[in-house]
Amino acid sequence: MKYGEITVTGETRVIGLLGYPVEHTVSPFMQNSAFRALGLSYVYVPFSIPPENLLEALKSMKVLNFAGFNVTIPHKKAVAKYLDKVEGFARKIGCVNTVVHREGKFVGFNTDGKGFLMSLEEEKIEIEGKDVLLIGAGGAAWAIAFSIMEKAPKRLFILNRNMDNAEALRLRLSMTFRKATILTLPHQKEPLKYTLQVTDLLINTTPVGMDGKSLPEFIDPKHLSEGAVVYDLIYSPPLTPLLKMAKKRKLRVINGEKMLLYQGALAFKLWTGKEPPVEVMRKALDKILSQKKK
Ligand SMILES: NC(=O)c1ccc[n+]([C@@H]2O[C@H](COP(=O)([O-])OP(=O)(O)OC[C@H]3O[C@@H](n4cnc5c(N)ncnc54)[C@H](OP(=O)(O)O)[C@@H]3O)[C@@H](O)[C@H]2O)c1
Repeated sequence: MKYGEITVTGETRVIGLLGYPVEHTVSPFMQNSAFRALGLSYVYVPFSIPPENLLEALKSMKVLNFAGFNVTIPHKKAVAKYLDKVEGFARKIGCVNTVVHREGKFVGFNTDGKGFLMSLEEEKIEIEGKDVLLIGAGGAAWAIAFSIMEKAPKRLFILNRNMDNAEALRLRLSMTFRKATILTLPHQKEPLKYTLQVTDLLINTTPVGMDGKSLPEFIDPKHLSEGAVVYDLIYSPPLTPLLKMAKKRKLRVINGEKMLLYQGALAFKLWTGKEPPVEVMRKALDKILSQKKK
């Protein structure tokens, strides 16, 4: 998919991606393929915006009549306070990844949580009654944790480098899901060993492993049981060291590509009001990610 295939006319609407950095993004391939497939006159363009320029960027996008935009690291939390309205789920988790320009107003949404659940659905993985270990307590972890809790897991364990951040997430979850068992784990080897033994679904929501070398600290897949599933939100590389080790143990592994696909498909629907051409988007993602592998 080349940008050259896009026909820009006087009616073309722009959809942005705000991040810092954004050079690594594959979302333009996925979204632009989808717009073309449905003959919609939109173009998706990434913008590298440092935090100090975020407000200026938002004002400019409004003046330029952007149809909307995606938000990625490091702006997902900060952007919420500059929007005209933030929809329920995004407000609850304090994290926005999709913004729609509606009648002069910027309205914020979060599609990460639902995108994650849709990826589990595709993989036919059930959460109900299961023990889930979530590594990380950043924006993606908040979205996933709140979505997972709706599916009634047996227990949710949260492990994070900064214990205060893990505790903040646990507290907010406990306020919503009062009867649920939600526990934070100390960042230490021994207690983790026990938790790994009972874990049914391990989810890495940290960027650890993006370099193709690092493993989340104290996480050794050899302690996981045979039926455990290991999910890493990272999609490039397609197999992080965590997934490689789990695969060696013949455990089921899932990388972040399907979540990326579904969070993007949900955003597409919010911007255009049309059913997203999921298979077109999947193909575009597969193609660009397999090129990255080479
Ligand atoms: N596949 C998808 O569709 C999708 C969607 C969203 C995000 N993601 C990926 O998920 C990851 C997290 O995104 P995010 O938006 O949640 O980021 P974020 O809000 O910045 O949170 C990052 C989390 O990772 C932890 N962390 C960062 N560096 C670490 C390190 N060196 N060692 C241990 N922990 C570390 C942070 O811990 P502290 O609290 O201790 O700082 C925090 O819990 C990124 O890799 C992102 O690309 C994928």
